[in-house]
Amino acid sequence: MELLINKIKEDGIVLSDSVLKVDSFLNHQIDPQLMYEIGREFASRFQSEGITKILTIESSGIAPSVMAGLQLQVPVIFARKRKSLTLLNELYSSKVYSFTKQESNEISIAKKYLNENDRVLIIDDFLANGQAAIGLADIAKHAKAEIAGIGIVIEKGFQDGGKILREQGYRVESLARIGSLENGIVTFITDNVG
Ligand code: G4P
Ligand code: NA
Ligand code: NA
Repeated sequence: MELLINKIKEDGIVLSDSVLKVDSFLNHQIDPQLMYEIGREFASRFQSEGITKILTIESSGIAPSVMAGLQLQVPVIFARKRKSLTLLNELYSSKVYSFTKQESNEISIAKKYLNENDRVLIIDDFLANGQAAIGLADIAKHAKAEIAGIGIVIEKGFQDGGKILREQGYRVESLARIGSLENGIVTFITDNVG
C-alpha cells in the first residue's frame, strides 16, 4: 500500500535493526485519514470473505480495525490484556508471549461476542514473531469461529511471524512488508507473494 509505505519512509524512525517506531501515526498519535485508507484497503482485500467480525488486540490494533469494520460494516472486538477476575468462566483466553518485551500476557475476550457462526478477520498493527496473531487465532478457535484471514498493517518480514502463520495455512495480508531495518534504513519487500 503505497500511501502507507510513503508514510513509513517519511515519519518512521528506525530504533534498532529490529524495531521501527511509528508513534507519529500508528502507535501513539493516530492519523485518522491514513487509518481510514488502511481500513478501506483491508476491506477491499477481504470483501468477498463473508467476514462477520473483526478480532484485534488492544491498544494499537484498535484504530485500523475500527476503520476496517466501518468499511465491512461488521463489529470489532478487541482482546484485553488484563481481565476481570470475577468473569473468568465467561471469557475465552490465550497466553501470548512477547519476545520483544520478554513477558507473557493473558489476552481474553467475553464469550458472548464470538461464536461458531462467526467468520473472523484478525487485524493487528505489527507482525513480528506472530505471537499476538496466534493468540487471537487461538481465541477464535475456542469460540469455534472460522478464521478468514489475518490483516497486518506493518509486517517485519525478517522476523518469523509471517512465515509461521502462512505455513499454518492462514491468508496473511500485510499492507507494508519490511525487509530490513539495518543501518538505520527501511527497505520494503515489494513483491506480492503472500
Ligand atoms: P508478535 O506478537 O508478532 O510476536 O510481536 P511482539 O510480541 O514482539 O510484539 C510486542 C509488542 O511490540 C506489540 O505491541 C507489537 O505490536 C509491538 N512491536 C513489535 N515490533 C515492533 C516494531 O518494530 N515497532 C513497533 N512500533 N512496535 C512493535 P503491544 O505491546 O501489544 O502494544 P500496543 O501498541 O498494541 O499497545
Ligand atoms: Na499490537
Ligand atoms: Na503495538
